[in-house]
Amino acid sequence: MNKIIRKEQFSEKVYCIEVEAPLIAKSCKPGNFIIVRVDKKSERVPYTIAKSDAQRGTLTLVIQTVGLSSLKLCRLNVGDEVQDIAGPLGTPSHIENYGTVLCAGGGIGIAAILPILTAFKQAGNRVVSVLAGRTKDLVIMVDEVKKYSDKVIIMTDDGSYGEKGVITVGMEKIFNEEHVDKVLAIGPPIMMKFCSLMAKKYGIPNDVSLNTIMVDGTGMCGACRLTIGGKTKFVCIDGPEFDGDLVDWDEMFSRMGTFKRVEQEELEHYHP
Ligand code: FES
Repeated sequence: MNKIIRKEQFSEKVYCIEVEAPLIAKSCKPGNFIIVRVDKKSERVPYTIAKSDAQRGTLTLVIQTVGLSSLKLCRLNVGDEVQDIAGPLGTPSHIENYGTVLCAGGGIGIAAILPILTAFKQAGNRVVSVLAGRTKDLVIMVDEVKKYSDKVIIMTDDGSYGEKGVITVGMEKIFNEEHVDKVLAIGPPIMMKFCSLMAKKYGIPNDVSLNTIMVDGTGMCGACRLTIGGKTKFVCIDGPEFDGDLVDWDEMFSRMGTFKRVEQEELEHYHP
């Protein structure tokens, strides 16, 4: 069992929790993820790690309530425990000094990109961050991102924070201002697809971090499989980061929707 020691509400549906997981906190690397089972009856859901603190033995997660399991997790309070956490899982991010790296984070993807952009900065890169959300409330952890970025651009759909427009508008602005060697995009799949296409338009190598459905997280069940560059890959062990130019996005979108109806029914029949 893993105890929750801090909880903060970022916006209507977005929560930040710090949970005890000393062994994972000691060994996880930027880009790793975990799989959480809130209680014995809950499904196994992958979450990215926003921060890990080896000394405190904790992980910080940013969670958006989209289905029953995330809703149950967000309803827990300080002192409550989650059933189990498996990790660290996945292949860590490839960190090297590329020169200038543009990190594009959308919504709770900003929390996922934070440890990676921190590692890029520590490896000597110039880090330019473009953060986006539908509205001001959904652009999170800006102060933390600013700490490790040389430049930060904020975009919101409604113009309530930063500039009005989608994330690719901010990216293109940067591409027209300076040379960029590498792009990393993390956020909703549709956002990552268009970030990747924008980077491709300017001939810039780009990676995306895919958030497919997962069950075991160890390459055995096949739930997370996708076609990358014409080959079948398992996101949980070969990823979660892949070359965005090689992702079969249509397949990704269709597999993401596989359990939508069942998930909706579960949510409707849930009585806490
Ligand atoms: Fe089962 Fe990846 S989650 S193979």
